[in-house]
Amino acid sequence: MTWKNTADRWGPVSQLLHWLIVLLVLVLAIVGLTMGELPKTPKYFWVYTMHKSTGITVLVLVLVRIAWRLYAGAPKPVPGTPTWQARIASLTHFALYALLLAMPLSGWLYDSASGLRPFRWYGLAEMPKLSAPNEGLSELSHDAHELLFWVLVALVVMHAAAAFYHHLFQNDATLTRMLPGRRRTPE
Ligand code: HEM
Ligand code: HEM
Repeated sequence: MTWKNTADRWGPVSQLLHWLIVLLVLVLAIVGLTMGELPKTPKYFWVYTMHKSTGITVLVLVLVRIAWRLYAGAPKPVPGTPTWQARIASLTHFALYALLLAMPLSGWLYDSASGLRPFRWYGLAEMPKLSAPNEGLSELSHDAHELLFWVLVALVVMHAAAAFYHHLFQNDATLTRMLPGRRRTPE
């Protein structure tokens, strides 16, 4: 077994990073969309710090994932994929990486420009501010954080639908090669 990606399969490192990031983004989305409604008790601030800390964790994981992708390469498109489909898939994947970076950066910028007290990453280390307090930048980055999230949701829906379409209707290895275990290899 190799840790790297091969011509026809994602290796364990890429798989782990893919599904761990999916899980964390899901938790961040649920917490992000509901935390504003919480009563203003100390728990409220704790939940915000957890959202921010986990968002920064995703930023680091995405940087690791991109570095690993550059080092370990990627499988070829499954045999028989038309060029136009492979291009759309590459474009979508590029956009997903861009959004995975833009989401935490816009959140961090919003936190910085709002002039709040610095937050500590899981209470352990104080995070630097990306900018001085700035009302215009705070509003802009807040709107970006919200808007980019909905763009991410739309792309992820398309992306997951494509994976299931390949699995159920094309009956190819697109989905299974992103899953662990000795599953079917591409025809
Ligand atoms: C992949 C990473 C992230 C995701 C998916 C995410 C997702 C979200 C979502 C869905 C919301 C609710 C948006 C709304 O409807 O207003 C939200 C709000 C928020 N996020 Fe994030 N977030 C991420 C990273 C971060 C980071 C790194 C920070 C700060 C360091 C942050 C700070 C905030 C804050 C302060 C709010 C509340 C905004 C408000 O009060 O309206 N987020 N986030
Ligand atoms: C937050 C949600 C998600 C994000 C941000 C995301 C992101 C990505 C990215 C960036 C890639 C490209 C990998 C590369 O070329 O380096 C990828 C590949 C893949 N994703 Fe996702 N993904 C998400 C959710 C899902 C879901 C829900 C499924 C399936 C149900 C899925 C199935 C796949 C598969 C099968 C591949 C490999 C495609 C191929 O081999 O050509 N992803 N994902």
